[in-house]
Amino acid sequence: MRWWDLPAVTVLEYTVFPEDAWSVGMFWSELAEVATRYYLVAEEFGADAAHPDRDGPRLVGYAGLLAGIGEAEVQTIAVDPGRRGRGLGRALLTELLREAARRQCDDVVLEVRVDNPPAQQLYREFGFVQVGLRRGYYQPANVDALVMRASGVIERFGEED
Ligand SMILES: CC(C)(COP(=O)(O)OP(=O)(O)OC[C@H]1O[C@@H](n2cnc3c(N)ncnc32)[C@H](O)[C@@H]1OP(=O)(O)O)[C@@H](O)C(=O)NCCC(=O)NCCS
Repeated sequence: MRWWDLPAVTVLEYTVFPEDAWSVGMFWSELAEVATRYYLVAEEFGADAAHPDRDGPRLVGYAGLLAGIGEAEVQTIAVDPGRRGRGLGRALLTELLREAARRQCDDVVLEVRVDNPPAQQLYREFGFVQVGLRRGYYQPANVDALVMRASGVIERFGEED
């Protein structure tokens, strides 16, 4: 993800997270933290039904990681509602976990809304297990967050040399 992606990222952000969307300023701040952040976008090329005259690229997803010492955190992951169920979420999360492994982070944590089974299922598929519950974490909706953790990331997602 680069600064020139931010207009499209922000549009998708407000579509996907209408209650607690990050502002464009928050994305700018994240991208400025180059030493500890890793953000990527998924783009689609070629004309589509909505834009037959355009070849793209069109932003269809994004994801971000905060890498600390030994542990990383999934900051966000989102796929365009019209492009879900085609493996994009899996591809984005795989890439975040590979980056965590490259940065020697063996544990990866995240928060996910209790009322978001699709995301929870995606995370479980990657070995995340619930390790906590944060009551009222998502405001203003006052929705609880599951805290999930994946371990052994370096062995599972590290690249062979
Ligand atoms: C969660 C999200 C990123 C998944 O993206 P996606 O591209 O549809 O996911 P994929 O097609 O790669 O699916 C991968 C796995 O996720 C799980 N999954 C995805 N959608 C699901 C659904 N509607 N119900 C149950 N499980 C689902 C499944 O385990 C799936 O594997 P399978 O296809 O073998 O069953 C997408 O639904 C999204 O953007 N949601 C809104 C934003 C969000 O909730 N982000 C997470 C915040 S913590």
